[in-house]
Amino acid sequence: MAEIYATVSGKGGVGKSTFVAGVSKGLADLGKRVLAVDCDIGLRSLDLLFGCSDKVVFDWGDLICGRCEKDNVIIRGETDYIAAPRSYEDEYTPEAFGKVIKDLSAGYDYVFLDSPAGIGAGFRITLGCARKAVAVSTPDNICIRSCSRAREELEKAGIEDTRLVINMFDKKSVVRNRLLNVDDCIDGTGIQLLGIVPIDRTLAYASVTGVAPDEFAPSEQAFFRIAKRITGERVPLVFE
Ligand SMILES: Nc1ncnc2c1ncn2[C@@H]1O[C@H](COP(=O)(O)OP(=O)(O)OP(=O)(O)O)[C@@H](O)[C@H]1O
Ligand SMILES: [Mg+2]
Repeated sequence: MAEIYATVSGKGGVGKSTFVAGVSKGLADLGKRVLAVDCDIGLRSLDLLFGCSDKVVFDWGDLICGRCEKDNVIIRGETDYIAAPRSYEDEYTPEAFGKVIKDLSAGYDYVFLDSPAGIGAGFRITLGCARKAVAVSTPDNICIRSCSRAREELEKAGIEDTRLVINMFDKKSVVRNRLLNVDDCIDGTGIQLLGIVPIDRTLAYASVTGVAPDEFAPSEQAFFRIAKRITGERVPLVFE
């Protein structure tokens, strides 16, 4: 049975979608079957990172409303992908979403749900089927506080297994006390650490080229280490 992860943050633009794309690639490279589901209604972005925008015809909202079949909604690739609807409909409840995604998750090892920013309706929809969560935060007080709020909401929804990814980490700025250190991030969010992803401007190229940074890019190496940890492998933390 697939492990279903919600990827959340509270604050927007911290790297949730980038994380989902990077860790999905890492898990696929480890031979795992991964389904990535865009949950950002109206503002989907994973299709750009997977380079499959031209293949998107249907989305999970169409499946909920019976406008397409299961086979029409999954875009096959190294990581399989399902797009988010372009606008809200009343039928998009956590229960309806949970039902279709649980049904689609058969045959996968991991499902990553890419939540929208915030802790509103879109965030709640992703909690319709997730049993675990990854909270992504950048190492600053604004994001850390919003991530802590998201953790509280996850706990209220019964999701106890949440792990923290610190994104856009920059060791030089931490040493100069311009960004929070790793312990501050863990204490501020109250979430156990899963991994650290360094700041890497080549990540921005992926949304233009549809190709992830090469395996030597520091961010790709970080995602690969996180992917290994998710599979249960013990991998040392790297602070770059
Ligand atoms: N480690 C990183 N280093 C440098 N740039 C990064 C890093 N991670 C993400 N980015 C860039 O930050 C921007 C926002 O990333 P992304 O879209 O993944 O955030 P998000 O949390 O999904 O945003 P939203 O809340 O709007 O869904 C993108 O331009 C992305 O390329
Ligand atoms: Mg996003």
